[in-house]
Amino acid sequence: MQSLLHHHRHCNWKYEELRPNIMGIDTEVPLLDGSRVPYVFLDNGASTPSFRHAFDVMGDFMPYYSGVHRGTGFKSILATQVYDEAHNLAGKFVGADLDVNTVIFVKNTTEAVNKLAKRVDWREGDVVITTMMEHHSDDLPWRMHAKVLHIGVDDRGYLDMDALRAAFATHKGHVRFVALTGASNITGIINPVHEVARLAHAEGAQVFVDAAQLAPHRGIDVLPQDDPGHIDFIAYSAHKMYAPYGIGVLIGPKAFFAKGDPDMVGGGVVDVVELDMVAWTAPPAREEAGSPNVPGAVGLAAAIHMLEAVGMDAVAAHEYDLVTYAIGRMKEIPGVRIYGPVEEDELRDKVGVIAFDVDGVPHAKTAAILSVEGGIGVRNGCFCAHPYVKRLMKVNEEDSARLTQELLDGDRSNLPGMVRASFGCYNNREDVDRLIEMLGIIARGAYKGTYEMDPRSGAYWPKEFDYPFTEYFPHFHFRPTQELTEFNEAS
Ligand SMILES: Cc1ncc(COP(=O)(O)O)c(C=O)c1O
Repeated sequence: MQSLLHHHRHCNWKYEELRPNIMGIDTEVPLLDGSRVPYVFLDNGASTPSFRHAFDVMGDFMPYYSGVHRGTGFKSILATQVYDEAHNLAGKFVGADLDVNTVIFVKNTTEAVNKLAKRVDWREGDVVITTMMEHHSDDLPWRMHAKVLHIGVDDRGYLDMDALRAAFATHKGHVRFVALTGASNITGIINPVHEVARLAHAEGAQVFVDAAQLAPHRGIDVLPQDDPGHIDFIAYSAHKMYAPYGIGVLIGPKAFFAKGDPDMVGGGVVDVVELDMVAWTAPPAREEAGSPNVPGAVGLAAAIHMLEAVGMDAVAAHEYDLVTYAIGRMKEIPGVRIYGPVEEDELRDKVGVIAFDVDGVPHAKTAAILSVEGGIGVRNGCFCAHPYVKRLMKVNEEDSARLTQELLDGDRSNLPGMVRASFGCYNNREDVDRLIEMLGIIARGAYKGTYEMDPRSGAYWPKEFDYPFTEYFPHFHFRPTQELTEFNEAS
């Protein structure tokens, strides 16, 4: 079937067109010394900026924006076709067979996992095997319903496949699901998901892959249902792939979602309602209660279109070059320690995420200096994967218990963590050079500011400095950065 998304502006995107297509790529930001520099954004693992193309296609759509599935007017019929086709594109992007699978639009990967975990017909004694490298979003939702086992990792962060096999043997007959990340949001390690799926299927379990960090970086093929290595369920987020307009994707067998009650009910999920009965409609509508995010779906479809036009292999090759270059240069800076794989032959199976720290400099301070003196946006902390970070940092049990107590007491001064630089398809070697230059300055102690730490947040900030946000974005009032004591981690 031919895609309905034939954008008249552009069909044959070239790789070099990606960077100029990033919204805000030239944005200048202020530094501590009063100068301004173009922002280097290295926090793509959290959320990527938008492709202008995604924004433009949404703009072209908005005059036709209308409620879907129920309206009879021109705009509603147009919007419905667009919305339905966006589902198909999102499914085909990961190789899903749409005869057997349904593509459900949700808010993000977190919502997808919660939905899936709620929709399983759990039985007494059911076990979910997940890993120690999961983002909390692919761990906590399962804990609400079943006994969850966390398969360990080795010192560099790789999944312990022997421990996985042993867990199947120990819990024979009870493992319902294996839920694992496609790629780690900390070390970038890509998991052998098809190998895990073969093991799981042999034991009668189903497999969920959290593709939040994989989908933006690698081509994915969930494989046909009759292949023992196929992925049963998969989820990803549009905001991590250049369409940050509030949509996420959950894909899985139609037959699974056609059974049982939807996890959320209301408008759109029914065929018939009487005062004393209700007949649910077919998925995906059955799982998309309420009026959906149609513009978000259009944005995602446009971003997918662009990524597919340049090719995910080209994205992967570019990223390999960038990661190899970055790690090679980081290794040259005394005091910089990189977590996870660093050898060239391992880097092919790692997405563009590098977690590191600088000897003797707290992670939060490094991140602050990179921002305030380098105009570089990174992230620091535990990245919503506390157990994995502590394992990689070899925090022992005693220290871990003490740190937990400190956190519960509201003191974040000793918060363990790392700094993370995560690349998007548009980052280039000049971006890496800016990072390397600043890391050299930090490692030598040659930064200029005097940084103070707020124990409530664990964040560092230079005394008497703040960003003049209103000059940049006058529509809102801003609080002083130092007052922002709540740094909730989300990615
Ligand atoms: C590996 C991984 N899984 C899940 C998530 C959750 O994604 P979202 O915040 O879009 O729900 C993230 C986001 O940071 C992630 O990195």
